[in-house]
Amino acid sequence: MNNRGNLTLQELNMSRRSVNFFDKEKDLDIRLVRKIITESFQAPSAYNLQPWRILLIKSDEAKQLLHGLAYKQAKILEAPITLIIVADKEGYEADNSAWKESFTKKGIERTHKMIDGARSLYGKTESTKLKFAESHGGLLAMNLMQLFKAYKMDTHPMSGMKFEEIKLAFNLKDSEEVVMLLPVGYRDESKQLSVKRDRKTYEEVVTEI
Ligand SMILES: Cc1cc2nc3c(=O)[nH]c(=O)nc-3n(C[C@H](O)[C@H](O)[C@H](O)COP(=O)(O)O)c2cc1C
Repeated sequence: MNNRGNLTLQELNMSRRSVNFFDKEKDLDIRLVRKIITESFQAPSAYNLQPWRILLIKSDEAKQLLHGLAYKQAKILEAPITLIIVADKEGYEADNSAWKESFTKKGIERTHKMIDGARSLYGKTESTKLKFAESHGGLLAMNLMQLFKAYKMDTHPMSGMKFEEIKLAFNLKDSEEVVMLLPVGYRDESKQLSVKRDRKTYEEVVTEI
């Protein structure tokens, strides 16, 4: 902890947990939530394309719908909000507004060359497209989890859901994928957190070549 009472990045990393029980009585400051989400956009992305979108689920109606499509996991109803993290498998195409900066600063011809380059890298096969979407959505999700924790809020990453049905129910584009659900709120302090699970060792994970 630094002298302003904020957690260091190392402390954040060690203390972030997937919180199963959210305090239903403790509401979120929506303006702070918007600020945190905006800060999460500092996540890196290929060509700075930021091929992500977030649906912020806060109404009872939308929560009920999502709850049904997430195998009735109670977190969706208990958390004040849930973020549906979406990424575009074709987010390298010219209609992504992130190219605007390049059109202005580098010109039309150079930017179209860059778009062709990005298309040939990421748009080759369905598998490269999926990799493009999932890697970017994952980076955004991790940034969000760390930032919410830094602001003393809790999250729970979830992929236990009916991906295709959520896509339909929330009118996503064909090229968009639901990457993860992220309920956000304050932990219910009256309930015990599950015991933190072991992580693999350095030797299990890393091959030094
Ligand atoms: C992509 C992803 C999907 C997950 N899906 C679910 C889920 O659907 N339901 C659930 O209870 N936990 C889910 N989890 C939470 C994991 O079980 C949890 O992160 C892991 O056990 C480590 O615990 P910790 O996050 O508290 O350190 C998911 C985590 C990730 C990263």
